[in-house]
Amino acid sequence: MTPSLKIPTRVEIKGDEFVPYLSVDQIQSRISILAGEINNDMNDKSPIFICVLNGAFMFFADLIRQVTIDCEVDFLKLSSYGESKISSGQVQMVKDLNCEVEGRNIVLVEDIVDTGFSIEFMKNWIEKKNPASLKIVTLLHKPASTKIAHKLDYVGFEIPPQFVVGFGLDYAQKARNLPAIYILAGNGSSENE
Ligand code: PRP
Repeated sequence: MTPSLKIPTRVEIKGDEFVPYLSVDQIQSRISILAGEINNDMNDKSPIFICVLNGAFMFFADLIRQVTIDCEVDFLKLSSYGESKISSGQVQMVKDLNCEVEGRNIVLVEDIVDTGFSIEFMKNWIEKKNPASLKIVTLLHKPASTKIAHKLDYVGFEIPPQFVVGFGLDYAQKARNLPAIYILAGNGSSENE
């Protein structure tokens, strides 16, 4: 991270105000710790790290450059939120994997686990392809929003059930470029996302 990054003190999207929640330093420190754990645990497993587009792209890029073990990367794309802040529960595969999953150690990398619908969909999708193992990494987890619980192997931060944007996470496709994570201000829409 360069010292010249612009870190806004508030962000307005579609009339909603967001305020700083997790700083660049907090995020990057946590990513270093997660990468260290993965390097220890997955050494000699030659895993394939799968970035779940779009939201995980920034977390994935920062995590993977701190992974020092032999590995490969691939990308898949899901969609469930559309333009809304609330999950539709209807998860769709928009882009499938290009790699052979059978017999490989797979590490799914998510930006956020909220209801758990997306993880449920991807676990089913990947397990049908007979991987040797499947681990899940997520930068953010909202335990209070869980509708389908899953074992999450590596979690960056547990957060309250409020809408967050930045560091890859969007609201109506906006704000993914923010280098830090922002949370919806006030008590509006606490049921969001
Ligand atoms: C977001 C996020 C996760 C999912 C988590 O994706 O990136 O994949 O929602 O929510 P869930 O646990 O309630 O399923 P989204 O469908 O918004 O697409 P995006 O990654 O392109 O923003």
